[in-house]
Amino acid sequence: MVKVDKFIQKSTEKIKEQIDGKAIIALSGGVDSSVCTVLAHNAIGDNLVPIYIETGLMRKGETERIKETFADMNLRVVNMKNRFLNALEGVEDPEEKRRAVGETFIRVFEEIAKEEQAEYLIQGTIYPDRIESDGGIKSHHNVGGLPDVVDFKDIVEPISDLYKDEVREVAKALDLPEELSERMPFPGPGLAVRIIDEVTEEKLEVVREANAIVEEELVEKYHPWQTFAALLGKGTGVKGDVRVHGWIIAVRAVSSRDGMTAEAMQLPWDVLNRIESRINSEIKSVSRVVYDLTPKPPATIEFE
Ligand code: XMP
Repeated sequence: MVKVDKFIQKSTEKIKEQIDGKAIIALSGGVDSSVCTVLAHNAIGDNLVPIYIETGLMRKGETERIKETFADMNLRVVNMKNRFLNALEGVEDPEEKRRAVGETFIRVFEEIAKEEQAEYLIQGTIYPDRIESDGGIKSHHNVGGLPDVVDFKDIVEPISDLYKDEVREVAKALDLPEELSERMPFPGPGLAVRIIDEVTEEKLEVVREANAIVEEELVEKYHPWQTFAALLGKGTGVKGDVRVHGWIIAVRAVSSRDGMTAEAMQLPWDVLNRIESRINSEIKSVSRVVYDLTPKPPATIEFE
């Protein structure tokens, strides 16, 4: 604990020294950017403008959660749902999807940075982000992608030497809500990588609702390393005596140490049954729910 307190004290002092003017940070809803935001706010107060871009690819209730958590800051919420949907129109290839989301994010963020005339950019990069990005396994849009047009005096990365569990410790020490400090990882491209093939508004609504049900049923009770729902495509079903062509939802729940490898959790049958029954009854356009048994490798944790 002493170490955490020391880190908070040292990094706050360092931010104060590094930043002389206005700074912005992009909030993602995750623990990394949240911790950086609180550290920076403690250091420079209202000179910090946290930006939350509504991409339409986030989990249910995210905007409300962010507004509540950062209510005492100069938070700016920007609705860009249509920009992201347009960028994703017709895109089926997983890597292209990531690129489309990443590029749109960068462009939007650059526009906002210009408007705000901020001189400093704060990023929530952590140590494993740097390593994975160097390894080039997947294109992570939150590393090294910001910004290439806007000239910042400096880019500040307060937690770039920390591992995830250390960031969580700092979050707790900073009194961030437990729901946030213990939050599961969520991919940068959001729900876009939990939809096979093209992303549409309808598919997003379905997968967002299914994700919320899975999280409600599993997170608190089973503490999975990560759990979510993905939308696979369509299949034939029977609902209310009528044959329908409904969405197929896959449920994933994995245990893992660091996300590099993972195993499917052995959940009780009645729990899986309950998830199936809730998804099929609460989301009208779904007609099939499956549980993914595949470890990583050979599968990845996310579907794309
Ligand atoms: P995979 O699917 O490769 O994911 O087994 C490993 C972990 O990384 C998360 N993930 C991402 N995180 N940007 C991120 O910030 C991304 O593009 C991205 N893709 C996957 C994933 O949720 C899992 O925790």
